[in-house]
Amino acid sequence: MAKKLEVKNLIISFRTNNGTVKAVRDISFNLERGETLAIVGESGSGKSVTARAIMGILAKNAIPEGGEIIYDGQDLMKISEEDFHKIRGNRISMIFQDPLSSLNPIVRIGKQLTEAMILNGKANQREAGRIYKEKGKLLRAEMKEAGVKNVDAKFTVFDNITKLGSQLESDYNYSHERAESMIKNIEAVLIDVLDKEPKKVAKEMRLIEKDAENVYNEYLIDEHKSELPGLLKKFQDAIPGYVSTGKHEQTDAALKELLVPLKGALETTAPDFYAMAYCKLNNVMPAYNGDNDELNEQMQSIFNEKFLDSFRKDVAAGLANSDKKSFEQKDNIVESLNAALDKIKDNRIDIKVAKEEAKKCSTEIENALDRLAINKDSIAYTFKSNIMSAVNIYAQALKVEKMKHPNKKNRMFKDRMDIDLYQNNIRLAMTRARDSFQSQIDAAEQLNYDKLSDEMVTYLCEESSKRVHKVTQRKAQIRAIELMEEVGIANARERYRQYPFEFSGGMRQRIVIAIALAANPDILICDEPTTALDVTIQAQILELINRLKAQRQLSIIFITHDLGVVANMADKIAVMYAGKIVESGTSDEIFYDPRHPYTWALLASMPDLDTKEKLDAIPGTPPNMIFPPEGDAFAERNKYAMQIDLEEQPPMFKISDSHYAATWLLHPNAPKVEPPKIVTDRIARMKKLNEETGGETNE
Ligand SMILES: Nc1ncnc2c1ncn2[C@@H]1O[C@H](COP(=O)(O)OP(=O)(O)OP(=O)(O)O)[C@@H](O)[C@H]1O
Ligand SMILES: [Mg+2]
Repeated sequence: MAKKLEVKNLIISFRTNNGTVKAVRDISFNLERGETLAIVGESGSGKSVTARAIMGILAKNAIPEGGEIIYDGQDLMKISEEDFHKIRGNRISMIFQDPLSSLNPIVRIGKQLTEAMILNGKANQREAGRIYKEKGKLLRAEMKEAGVKNVDAKFTVFDNITKLGSQLESDYNYSHERAESMIKNIEAVLIDVLDKEPKKVAKEMRLIEKDAENVYNEYLIDEHKSELPGLLKKFQDAIPGYVSTGKHEQTDAALKELLVPLKGALETTAPDFYAMAYCKLNNVMPAYNGDNDELNEQMQSIFNEKFLDSFRKDVAAGLANSDKKSFEQKDNIVESLNAALDKIKDNRIDIKVAKEEAKKCSTEIENALDRLAINKDSIAYTFKSNIMSAVNIYAQALKVEKMKHPNKKNRMFKDRMDIDLYQNNIRLAMTRARDSFQSQIDAAEQLNYDKLSDEMVTYLCEESSKRVHKVTQRKAQIRAIELMEEVGIANARERYRQYPFEFSGGMRQRIVIAIALAANPDILICDEPTTALDVTIQAQILELINRLKAQRQLSIIFITHDLGVVANMADKIAVMYAGKIVESGTSDEIFYDPRHPYTWALLASMPDLDTKEKLDAIPGTPPNMIFPPEGDAFAERNKYAMQIDLEEQPPMFKISDSHYAATWLLHPNAPKVEPPKIVTDRIARMKKLNEETGGETNE
């Protein structure tokens, strides 16, 4: 599975009048593609702060004290505001607890949906244009260097192909969408004629006529060959009769006939637009008899033979040339990093040496960044900011250490600084980069340039097609209605024009989800999305989120204080307490083999599966986060606490490759402690239930 998001050693505090609130205290986790991670913990444990840090919407008094949030090769903690705008709400979306607060009360639902889409569409077009141009330029240079002949001429041909191909594709897709929309409208009308006023239905009928104006495309529905125009005329002729008498047999029959060619068209294969562009540009289009598969075969054979096969070889040569240089550089970098690590191996690293080496390695790595790569190497891209911040904090600590009369700010820093840790962080940044480059070097022999070249050409075609993919008002409206239907809103067409207050709480939350999905994000963060809803609606929303995850391969972070909520939806669970992750594991590990006493307490306080009754509330309250406890923060409320729990922070003990818990109970010398009976009983009940339902409760 591919890592979508990595949070490493995140530390967030807040400045307040009473002191610094340590809200998130060094947490790390990964989120993979198509996976749901649940973050569970009591109120105030730092769940929302974590989510807001990922979204880049922390309150003004927040102090990001450390850590990284890696997304798409970038550290979200360090990127510019402008870059963040591209990601926030676009690639990463968030749903908040209170749906009303995230909707504008005086703007119709439909407009709120389409506005987001149109804005995003424009940004995406610009971004795709930039990528296409930049990668093309780099690729051209590499190909020339590799000795490929006539590179510029070949690229001019390729550019013309992608330009025309994208346009042909866009035209075809437009007609395709119209055909889909006609089918939907026809099906709606067939139902609505049964109980709605003819005048109202006539309006819906007009929509069908309107779509029909733009449905024709030679390769989808040929205006001159298809029977559609004739059938449409028959339908139009029947409308006045229906409106005056309300009798709908004739319109029904005509509409049902219309469905046949429309549905047939949607089943046909789309043409290969890039092969078509080549053939059209060179006047070698094969004769077309209405069969797209046959056409594709002929066009592709011409395109491949005359252009694409050799172009791919040229691209492969360019990519190999780029790699050849980059692997030489990588060898040197590994050497430099090893040399640097050697110079800073002893404690009390000389700060001058550290600065020099950090700078030298950063420059080398920066010069070696593979800007042609389709997927960015996150370690290389973030090296400079990592190593520089590690060196700077170490320098700061050395400076403050020497101060005889530090001011208040420095005194506070001095009280909690950790010079050993800072030195290790410098080494860690270098080691991590070295190991990553070394493993790339080791894997170099397995690179398949034919495949990489193929991927590159496809990638450029895709970006080119995004360039011309304009989100018009009309397209956005169709898409918005589809989205509303996708999130389970009945009568989407009518509700599109309503205001937020006309929706129930559950429906509003669905709208909020639809808005979050409008930009087609790959990560969705849900912060207690069901807390304000009653139990049945809650279950429906959870089901919806689950379905969307599966259909769209979304990665989800689901935040809740109720472990019970995530039983059927989380792949992984991180249990948070007082700003730390105290236990993390797969859903099964947390539910059937919990190790931290806090997880036991959460399990014990979960509403029972059978009775749905709330059992034990966890006694006591979480600590004051201005003065977090020295040891395990849960110790004060934990009847299994030992002396050491009060004194020293437990490390994350490993239970399995995926299961970790921070409790001294897992230390080899700790006394053997069983979870409380209420928990073991519950686990037994859950297991039994799971067996009875054939494991379906954990789907
Ligand atoms: N802007 C702020 N200023 C000061 N303290 C803050 C701020 N935002 C959050 N905190 C504190 O950070 C800690 C974590 O808050 P957070 O909102 O993440 O909790 P949570 O786990 O989401 O809880 P809940 O379940 O109540 O939503 C709390 O102690 C909170 O008081
Ligand atoms: Mg919260």
